Amino acid sequence: MRLGRLSCAGMLLMLPWWVLAQDVPRERQTALKALLHQDCGSCHGMTLQGGLGPSLLAKDLGNKPDEFLIETILNGRPGTAMPPWNSLLTRDEATWLVRMLRSGSENSPSHP
Ligand code: HEC
Repeated sequence: MRLGRLSCAGMLLMLPWWVLAQDVPRERQTALKALLHQDCGSCHGMTLQGGLGPSLLAKDLGNKPDEFLIETILNGRPGTAMPPWNSLLTRDEATWLVRMLRSGSENSPSHP
């Protein structure tokens, strides 16, 4: 099962996010946050509470494996409106975004 393999990968990602996403410089973090609200927000809602796309708030991401969400961001979901972002985002950046969404600080002005 594909999801089973992804959950194993998800468990590896339970390391603290800064260990994995330390390659994202501070200025880039600000840019990613702007992208999240402007570009992702056009489908996922201005405050990411859901719109055309589902809510990206921590409470709604539930126990979906991080790797599953990172793959969704990088490769999109074929057959749905979710586009691939791998031409704009690196894996580290997508990882950082998922970590931030999980931490629930996406709507605060600075992170963390
Ligand atoms: C054109 C509209 C659109 C844009 C822009 C968009 N998304 Fe999505 N996204 C969707 C839709 C629709 C889904 C649900 C796909 C499905 O039905 O499985 C989705 C799903 C997701 C999921 C999986 C959520 C879950 O609970 O499984 C994540 C994570 C996600 N998007 C993140 C992002 C991020 C981060 C961005 C910006 C870099 C973004 N999306 C931009 C439409 C969009």
